[in-house]
Amino acid sequence: MRDLTLRHGALVLACLLSMAPTLAGTDAADASNQASQPPLPPAKAYGKFTQARIEHGRYLTLAGDCLGCHLRPGGKPFEGGLALNTPFGTIYSPNITPHKAWGIGSFSDQDFLRALQQGIRPDGKPYYPALPYPSFTKVKDDDLLAIKDYLFSLEPSDYRPPETQLRWPFDLRDLLFGWQELYLSDQRFEPDPSKSEEWNRGAYLVEGLGHCGACHTPRNLAGATEAHEALTGALIDGWYAPNLTSELGDGLGDWRLHELITYMRSGEATPAKDAASGQTNTSAPHGPQAGSHNGSQNGPVTAALGPMAEVVHLSLSRLADSDLRAIAVYLKDRPAIETPRQAPSRPHQLSEQDDIQGRRLYRHYCSGCHQSHGQGLAPYFPALRGNEVVTLPDPKDVVSALLLGAPADPTQAFSAHVVMPSFGSLLNDRQIAILASYIRANWGNDAAPVTPEQVSQLRRGD
Ligand code: HEC
Ligand code: HEC
Ligand code: HEC
Repeated sequence: MRDLTLRHGALVLACLLSMAPTLAGTDAADASNQASQPPLPPAKAYGKFTQARIEHGRYLTLAGDCLGCHLRPGGKPFEGGLALNTPFGTIYSPNITPHKAWGIGSFSDQDFLRALQQGIRPDGKPYYPALPYPSFTKVKDDDLLAIKDYLFSLEPSDYRPPETQLRWPFDLRDLLFGWQELYLSDQRFEPDPSKSEEWNRGAYLVEGLGHCGACHTPRNLAGATEAHEALTGALIDGWYAPNLTSELGDGLGDWRLHELITYMRSGEATPAKDAASGQTNTSAPHGPQAGSHNGSQNGPVTAALGPMAEVVHLSLSRLADSDLRAIAVYLKDRPAIETPRQAPSRPHQLSEQDDIQGRRLYRHYCSGCHQSHGQGLAPYFPALRGNEVVTLPDPKDVVSALLLGAPADPTQAFSAHVVMPSFGSLLNDRQIAILASYIRANWGNDAAPVTPEQVSQLRRGD
């Protein structure tokens, strides 16, 4: 019984966690582009809490980028309601103002610490790791409580975010217990006495409140981050969060300390000598994988355009110079680790455009179940790689699975536990055609592409 729970837990998390950064990336990044972003409310002393205490809490709230997720476009700070989309349904960030009924007004100090360090709700159920508690668990009790003291100084809001409703079986919070037991360390940050105070401060911010690894560290099959691959770069919703170790090609090896600090403060790194070489620095590549820099000759030339723009705007740009420096010192001191190869080369059947879009759609809607390389996850999700149903000359079965869901015949089900949702109302003919073509042409599959006309014919039942 217990064993089963563990396996289920790992499975569900594989799906949810592989989505978590995506979430932070998509909606939140859009929200930050709105000029109407309300500022973080100023600190005010109240009750037994001094001005200095509340200022301290406000500052740490910035370092944790709590607003990035607990604010929806057009909402008031910390009211929550930001929609984080996953293929299994939408997770809404909660109201964390001190409202007694709809916020966290009834949380004790212990409740607050348990939520952020252990991912456990006051009623004993687990939180989804869309709340980055695997990082926040490193943060000292007193720093988290200072954040609570600041949040409790704010005006309570009676806004009630929509209920999070994930499709079965992904709404079963209990399944997360198993995962937490396996992958959550529940350990505070331990300073390294052989390093400087500045280095340790940087490490504390990067690994704890800054939750940089939530986006920059690749995840294994169970959705957990791997210690030995920490900060070596990962794909998020079509964006690439680059390697932050001192690796030279893809990482920060050729960045100077001040360039890194400037990037965190402004979202741009444009060394002066570049102008002399006649290059324009604003010509960062567009679309996915933008934000990489152009090699070592001119140093980094990069601008935060995607998810990182939000992190810079709401969090890093508001931190003290001393803390940005500490982060840079720590990052620059990390040994170089090569970026794991993630991006496969483009299959010959697909145009570049369709390949990029297919990968994006696949990561967003399919990889949570069928996994990043179409390898599936026994005994729940069939592999798409090497699957005859996928590569039959007549694409009818693949397209039907996408339009209507699967199994078509319940007695032939791949797994008694899970079904494949239908995507017919979510995606249009072109998107379904691109997805079908993408899975027919990747991971060694080699079947002809599917056209939007074929999809629309099957939709009409021709
Ligand atoms: C990447 C997005 C993200 C960030 C960053 C984030 N949160 Fe959250 N937070 C969430 C989500 C999503 C939930 C709800 C999880 C669930 O329903 O299981 C949540 C839940 C919470 C809860 C529990 C609320 C309740 O009603 O049970 C608290 C408290 C909280 N967050 C505080 C914070 C603080 C403080 C920070 C900054 C240090 C922060 N969060 C940063 C996404 C985020
Ligand atoms: C929500 C996901 C997310 C989080 C959290 C995040 N990053 Fe990023 N970061 C990205 C992405 C994606 C890029 C690629 C550029 C972009 O998004 O515009 C990036 C780019 C960068 C770059 C530029 C690297 C290069 O080679 O161009 C640096 C430096 C960086 N991040 C540092 C950090 C640090 C330090 C933290 C933690 C304090 C952090 N990031 C947290 C997603 C994230
Ligand atoms: C919630 C998990 C889930 C998601 C998300 C999901 N699938 Fe599935 N998929 C399944 C399951 C379970 C089956 C097996 C159904 C059965 O019993 O026949 C399946 C079957 C299939 C099949 C038929 C394979 C076969 O052997 O019969 C194809 C093709 C397929 N999925 C493609 C996709 C694509 C493309 C996406 C993204 C748009 C996707 N799936 C998203 C769970 C999922």
